[in-house]
Amino acid sequence: MTKILAIETSCDETAAAVIEDGFRIHSNVVASQIDIHRRYGGIFPEVASRQHILAIGTVVQDALIEARTGWNDLDAVAVTYGPGLAGSLLVGVNAAKGIAMARELPLIGVNHLEGHLYSNWLDATDKNRPPRKKFPALCLIVSGGHTELVLIRNHGNYQILGRTRDDAAGEAFDKVARLMDVGYPGGPAIEEAAKGGNPAAHKFPRAKLGDSFDFSFSGLKTAVLRVVQKYTKVDKLHHPGNLNKDSAQLPLRTMPVADIAASFQMAVVDVLVSKTKAAADEYDVAEVLLAGGVSANTLLRNKMMAGIDRPVLVPPLSLCTDNAAMIGAAAYWRLQAGHTAGWDLDVIANLRLE
Ligand code: KG4
Ligand code: ZN
Repeated sequence: MTKILAIETSCDETAAAVIEDGFRIHSNVVASQIDIHRRYGGIFPEVASRQHILAIGTVVQDALIEARTGWNDLDAVAVTYGPGLAGSLLVGVNAAKGIAMARELPLIGVNHLEGHLYSNWLDATDKNRPPRKKFPALCLIVSGGHTELVLIRNHGNYQILGRTRDDAAGEAFDKVARLMDVGYPGGPAIEEAAKGGNPAAHKFPRAKLGDSFDFSFSGLKTAVLRVVQKYTKVDKLHHPGNLNKDSAQLPLRTMPVADIAASFQMAVVDVLVSKTKAAADEYDVAEVLLAGGVSANTLLRNKMMAGIDRPVLVPPLSLCTDNAAMIGAAAYWRLQAGHTAGWDLDVIANLRLE
């Protein structure tokens, strides 16, 4: 039995978890900063690292209390060291180092993307053994910062088949939500706004990029902007001093928010599903896994399962967005392979998976 205390502070969630044998969740504490960053409409890096400093002590303590685990029961300390915001990562890495050094425990550095991938190992219905995974597997990691198609040949053996050339899928959701002023964070806000909308109302582009497994979402974002601009400029007409005489503009209240959101969401999902299916077929994978914040999207989960004739596995909703349980799961397999870090472990803001 191996108990790992895992810490995650790469972005805007301060998180700690106690994970046993890479799949049993004893605790999974997440202190979200969403309410703080909402007022900026996005993540403010300096504010994020300050909040991590304020929260980390309590979050780690809560994770241990919830898991009924004492310092002496731990076998290792794991922490995300990249990719992410340097100032945020530093807080987690220094906290983990301090704990590991004081308790004389092995320190394990985990790649945040590898963590997302391992959120699929936590979905254990059988509490006596980890969910069995078949290799090769294909994982689509879709988060606020990344869109990557990863071929997994075995634990720790990854090949990136494709990645985004511009915006990440989550970033596209966030930017379009801001354009349409539907809420923050953008993914869940667009999903909500799209309810009852017609996904075929607007013919938004789907970037094919030839035979490549790469993605591009910037053209789609611009296409949405063009539609939204037909309505938003007119708002100025109703504000004295901002008179805009462009007669081509339409009243803001007539903007078909649900149709635009639904058409945008469908365009993103179409591209993600078709590229994932093509890669799954070309590499004849045994299973397809989804991971990352955007994998919480219901349309994406459903279309992926309907469109791919191989087992498609999705993490539980609460484990799609950033958390430390997934870091503890990935760390277990790292520890099994003898990969521990030295005291010189440093943050790498642009760390890659391969
Ligand atoms: O994995 P994550 O929590 O953080 C990163 O590592 O980036 O992902 C956050 C991203 C945000 O862009 C958010 O808008 C998106 O995931 N997201 C969603 C949904 N829930 C979160 N996107 C689409 N539909 C959702 N339901
Ligand atoms: Zn993430």
